[in-house]
This record gives sequence, C-alpha cells and structure tokens, in this order.
Amino acid sequence: MNSHPSIRAFAWDDYDAVVAIWRAVGSDPLPRAELEAKLIRDPELFLIAEDGGAVAGVVLGTYDGRRGFILRLAVDPAHRRRGLATRLVAELELRLKALGCPRINLFVLPDNAAGLGFWQALGYLPVPDVVCTKPL
Ligand SMILES: CC(C)(COP(=O)(O)OP(=O)(O)OC[C@H]1O[C@@H](n2cnc3c(N)ncnc32)[C@H](O)[C@@H]1OP(=O)(O)O)[C@@H](O)C(=O)NCCC(=O)NCCS
Repeated sequence: MNSHPSIRAFAWDDYDAVVAIWRAVGSDPLPRAELEAKLIRDPELFLIAEDGGAVAGVVLGTYDGRRGFILRLAVDPAHRRRGLATRLVAELELRLKALGCPRINLFVLPDNAAGLGFWQALGYLPVPDVVCTKPL
C-alpha cells in the first residue's frame, strides 16, 4: 500500500470508485445528474483521497455563502485509521475557510459510533437542534 496518499478534487474518472466506497459504507450513491449540478457551484469542495493510485476516501463539502456543510464522508474499510478522513476534512476546512466560511455543520446518525468518535476527535461538537427534512 502506498504510504503517501494524496488529497485532490474529484474528477469524473473517479465516479465509479466513489460509488463503490459509498456503497461499501451503506450510503446511497449520488446520481451523476445531482453531482453535475453540485460541481457547477463549487467543484473544489468535492474531495478524493487517493492511495496507491486508487480512490480510498471521499468527502462532499458545500457552502451556501453563510455556512459550510460536510456530507458523504467515507473511507474504504481497507484504508481506515490511517488519517485519511482527517486529511480529507482538514483540506476541506482550508478550502471553506478560503471562501470566507465561518462555521461548518454536519449530520451524524446517533448510532454511528465510528462517525461520532471521528467527528469529536476533530472538534465537531453535537448540538441539540431538531432535524427536519422535506423532499422537493
Ligand atoms: C468515520 C470514517 C470516515 C473515519 O475514517 P478514517 O480515515 O478511518 O479516520 P481517521 O484515520 O482520520 O481517524 C481519526 C480519528 O478519528 C477517531 N476515529 C476514527 N474511527 C473511529 C472509530 N471507528 N471509533 C472511534 N473513533 C474513531 C479516532 O480518534 C481517530 O484517531 P486514531 O486513529 O489516532 O485513534 C470511517 O470510519 C468511515 O468511512 N465510516 C463509515 C462512513 C461514516 O460513518 N462516515 C461519517 C458519516 S457522518
């Protein structure tokens, strides 16, 4: 395994590998059309971790001009606990900061112990807001 993973922006050649990682963590893959719409706005906030020439992790950031949001963070199970997610999020934080973003929000399911452990290790604290959603 390559010991020098790199973090870079997503390219369409990565799509199948990203879908495979999302599937591996039980997350519904983003359809191409949804991704195309997102990449028109802020392509530099969709990041890939590449290790040994293969996609090993992914994170999707968004910025609405006021708050940043982090979605779909996933690291291939074979590449975990090597700091890849930490590096993905650190790079995303830098890029959001460069856009003027003062705060990042995200959702974690309450039964996701790995996710909660990870986010707390990085200083993301739970807030007791009510979460609502509506499909349009
Ligand atoms: C959560 C996830 C992205 C972490 O990826 P990773 O590359 O293994 O994370 P890192 O190596 O950067 O971990 C950094 C720190 O986070 C914490 N952490 C990571 N995984 C953890 C786990 N399973 N349990 C508890 N703490 C954990 C640890 O403090 C870790 O530091 P350490 O390895 O020195 O102890 C990965 O487990 C994953 O893809 N999970 C499934 C998808 C998911 O839950 N995504 C988050 C949705 S909100």
